[in-house]
Amino acid sequence: MSSSSTGLRILANARTALAVAGGIYAVALGLMAVPYFQSHALYLNAIRLPFFADFDAPERYGLALNKTFNFKIQTVDNETLGAWFILSESFYQSLPSHDTTPKPYIEHALRQRKTILFFHGNAATRAFKARIQHYSAFSSRLNVNVLAVDYRGFADSTGSPSEDGLVRDARAAYEWLISSGARGEDIIIMGHSLGTGVSARLAAQLSREELPYRGVVLMSPFSSITQLLKTYNMLGMIPLIKPLTIIPYAFNFVTWALIHKFDTLSVIPQIKGKVLIAHAENDWDIPYTHSEILFNAFLDPLLPSVDIPSDLVSTTKEDWSAFTAQIAARKAQRENIVTTTRMANFGVMEEFVDRGGETTVGGERIRGGEYWAAGQPGGGSPREREVIFVKMLEGNHDYVGVQEGLQDIIGQKFGLLPSVPSLTPPDSAAPGNSPEVDVGGSATSEAATSEAGGWSPTTGISAGADWPGPVAKIVG
Ligand SMILES: *[C@@H]1O[C@H](CO)[C@@H](O)[C@H](O)[C@H]1NC(C)=O
Ligand SMILES: *[C@@H]1O[C@H](CO)[C@@H](O)[C@H](O)[C@H]1NC(C)=O
Repeated sequence: MSSSSTGLRILANARTALAVAGGIYAVALGLMAVPYFQSHALYLNAIRLPFFADFDAPERYGLALNKTFNFKIQTVDNETLGAWFILSESFYQSLPSHDTTPKPYIEHALRQRKTILFFHGNAATRAFKARIQHYSAFSSRLNVNVLAVDYRGFADSTGSPSEDGLVRDARAAYEWLISSGARGEDIIIMGHSLGTGVSARLAAQLSREELPYRGVVLMSPFSSITQLLKTYNMLGMIPLIKPLTIIPYAFNFVTWALIHKFDTLSVIPQIKGKVLIAHAENDWDIPYTHSEILFNAFLDPLLPSVDIPSDLVSTTKEDWSAFTAQIAARKAQRENIVTTTRMANFGVMEEFVDRGGETTVGGERIRGGEYWAAGQPGGGSPREREVIFVKMLEGNHDYVGVQEGLQDIIGQKFGLLPSVPSLTPPDSAAPGNSPEVDVGGSATSEAATSEAGGWSPTTGISAGADWPGPVAKIVG
């Protein structure tokens, strides 16, 4: 047996393997055009991790004893959704005992602290380990209540998932919070991955109906499923549809066959209030460029447009200098509006406020002009929107929300952090004046804490709130 024939055989085998792989790929793609398979591929709701979860026992998955209430939410179209309501830490610790269900305290918990309405990504359930880590961190570190819902077709919920269905589920969860005693202004809508598509649509819907919410947090979002298909890497490494983009019309077929579009980009103009977008640079599932696209879409109406010369050959010198001047104006405007904060070893934060209104720049009407032109609020409608983009070094796809750096930014931006008396930094203190001495007069620091209506480890929930105490509630 000569070595060349062995080489040929290997080559032939490789070619067969490639053809088989190509065939499987083609069949798989064909199947994706079938709604049933497409739906399963997108939502992955059949993957019910953890297997055989006992949703009545959140303690098994790491949550404190009787800190979580397991219950069902009814949607307008009669689906029944499995849900967990998790008490904020300060409230939980203020309860006289933990050997009864937290159910009777929900109304007070909602009035005491703000609430994160959490929409998870595809696959698995609300009891999935990475999600539990989020509830734990938010309820203790940010001291908020958390409502985590499983969409239709997921976990112990009824039905099967669809884009409109998931938005209805989200709305049902919001309504449940309101009817249980929450103020809309205290509800932070938060989505992760697929959940960002749901959150953005819920926020747009509430904005249109002028119903209140505190803001939206989009963690590891995508700009639209169409764009995502171009860039999505299964398991963080296998490009799913990308190879198709080299075949003409093949990608058009895919987008035509796409039923569940979750086009967050297109609902952006409708979203009002505060929006925080967070993405890790080391997210190998959804590239952070999706978040840049979203942030820029929020920013775009505040920047003057640029007319790109249509025909480079006949472009005159004047056309060209007008073009470069427009680019410079747009860049200057962006720098004017956007505040950039660099945080060493953590990431970069870009933010701007859109106060609405209009102004004329170089003959063009653009939004928010009063704000940047005058350098101060004025004219136009009241503040419509504040957009914050945190690009983080770490966090992968699933752990952005458990980074303490991001939690603190969410806490600051949404007014969740307990106010703490400021200390004199040790190195700036006068010689011989130790920091302990500065803090020592704890009478003042305690006063400052409770005055601000915050939470302090010694007093539990601050005075001044209308919480009559759990005993009164039981009696009532
Ligand atoms: C939901 O159920 C109620 C009561 O069973 C029924 O009256 C109503 O028509 C149902 N709605 C839908 C959309 O199926
Ligand atoms: C939680 O409360 C229920 C009663 O509502 C009680 O039966 C159960 O033992 C409590 N769990 C723990 C761990 O104390």
